[in-house]
Amino acid sequence: MKNKITALAFISLLALSACGTKDYKPQDYILEMNYKDDFRILQLTDIHLSDKDDQKTQFKFMDLLYKDANNPDLVVVTGDLFTFASKNTAKSLLKYFDDKGVPWSVCFGNHDEQCYFSVDWLTKTLSEYGSNCLFKDLQDDKVNGNCNFAINLMKDGKVHDQLFIMDSNRYDFNFSQFGYDCFKQDQIEWYESVVNYTKEQNGGETVNSLMFYHIPLPEVNAAWDEAKQNNKVIYGEKREASCSPDHDYGFFNKIKELGSTKAMFFGHDHINNFEVDYQEVKFCYGIKSTDRIYHDNDMLGCQTITIHNDHSLTIDRYYHTYAEVK
Ligand SMILES: [Fe+2]
Repeated sequence: MKNKITALAFISLLALSACGTKDYKPQDYILEMNYKDDFRILQLTDIHLSDKDDQKTQFKFMDLLYKDANNPDLVVVTGDLFTFASKNTAKSLLKYFDDKGVPWSVCFGNHDEQCYFSVDWLTKTLSEYGSNCLFKDLQDDKVNGNCNFAINLMKDGKVHDQLFIMDSNRYDFNFSQFGYDCFKQDQIEWYESVVNYTKEQNGGETVNSLMFYHIPLPEVNAAWDEAKQNNKVIYGEKREASCSPDHDYGFFNKIKELGSTKAMFFGHDHINNFEVDYQEVKFCYGIKSTDRIYHDNDMLGCQTITIHNDHSLTIDRYYHTYAEVK
C-alpha cells in the first residue's frame, strides 16, 4: 500500500474495537439464507467513497459491476467502503446497495474509521438496517472487532456452505512502529467455536466455508512467493507489497487445523489481484471497485465467486474503465 495511504492512517481518529462483557453462544452470530445451485457472490472492495466524490459517477461505475454479476445471490463488500465520509454519504451508499434488491453484506476496512462518524455508528446502522442487508454484530460481546458473523447457506435443512464475515481490525499503535492490525486471539476462539458448533449441527461433518475480510493475513506474502517460484500462480499480479500485519495470533494455523475454510477473499492492497493456493487454502484478492484513492486504471472492477453444488468454486473477473460512465 502506498505511502500516502499510510500517512492518512496516522491522522485518523483511533477508534477502539467494540469489546464488551457479555458471553454469547455461537448460534447467536449466525444468519441464514437459502443455497441454490451455482450460488453466485459478487465481491466488491475498497470503494472509499468520501463527501467530495461525485456519487452519480461512482454509482454508475458500480452499476456496471452489478450487471457483470448478472443477478448475483449475494453481494459482499470487503472493507474500506468509506474515507472521510459523513453519515449522509454513508447512508447514500448503503441505500445504493439496498435498492439493488440483492442481499448484501459488508465487513470493515482500516479506512472505515477515517470518517465523520464512528465505526460503532456504522455497525449499529448496519445491524438495524433490515431489508436486504445481512449484517450482525453483537456490540456488547467479548469478541474484538465490529463485524464477526457467519451466513449459513442452507440446503435441505443442512448447512451447505458457510460464509465467515470477519473484522481484520484497523491500525496497531501498540508497538514502536505503526502497522496494520490483525485478528485477535478472542476472534480466533470465536471462529473455532462457530466452526465446531456448525459441525455438530451438521451431524459431525465439517462444513466447507469461505471467509471474507479486509486486510490479508501475514501468510499472503509466503503464499505468493511460493506460487510464483513454482509457477503456480492461479491468476493475477502482485503490483505492490501485500500490506498485512507483521505479527498475528496464529489464525492461519487454526484455519488449517479445523479444515473448514477453503478460500479467503480480501482487499486492502488496491493494485494486487492475485489468486494462489497455499497449504490447501485459497488466498484471493478482490478487485478494487471504484477509482477513489490510489489505483491502476486497468485494475478496476469486481469478481464473482460461484459456489457449485460439490463445493468447488469458479471465480470470474470483470474490468472496466471510467470512460464507460463519463
Ligand atoms: Fe483500501
